[in-house]
Amino acid sequence: MKIGIILLCILPFVLAGCKNKISVCSCNNITSEHYQPNYGMEWTDQPDGLLFHKDGAGCKRELTCYKGSFTYFESNWIDTTIPPPDYADDTGVKILSQDLETYSIGPYVELQELFGIVCENSKWVITKYPFGFSYMKKGTGEEIQIPGEEMTSKTYKTFVKKFYCDG
Ligand SMILES: *[C@@H]1O[C@H](CO)[C@@H](O)[C@H](O)[C@H]1NC(C)=O
Repeated sequence: MKIGIILLCILPFVLAGCKNKISVCSCNNITSEHYQPNYGMEWTDQPDGLLFHKDGAGCKRELTCYKGSFTYFESNWIDTTIPPPDYADDTGVKILSQDLETYSIGPYVELQELFGIVCENSKWVITKYPFGFSYMKKGTGEEIQIPGEEMTSKTYKTFVKKFYCDG
């Protein structure tokens, strides 16, 4: 009887402990820590404030945004395993959500899925590059895209630094 009561008392705590373990993610809040909400260009068709954030179980996130030339992740050459192309300047790398010469905006996409973003050793890591990446050519101000097709068989990892959602 006594044992039964003790069990009844501790059971809720044990269950709560289990539940917390399942839903905890060791990575930070990707939206509040990495999203740059004030980068919005007022003249674009879809100005800022477009990111819809939802926390799922574990490290599942919903980061819903319009695809577009101002929707991308940005990182530095020291924070990616992508080898810097010859003539890349040190601005870093832009992981694109569409091809550079596509000027249309939309549709909505879920960015964690699109870029295969996973939480590894408490860091958010990009693993998929469906539209490749771009970099600035040294001394020219020219933005060059390496298309997604050239990235399909690669297993490059890029730490998330900043991201933008501006269609
Ligand atoms: C993460 O940050 C976003 C935006 O600031 C917020 O809406 C969300 O509730 C935060 N999630 C957690 C678990 O704190």
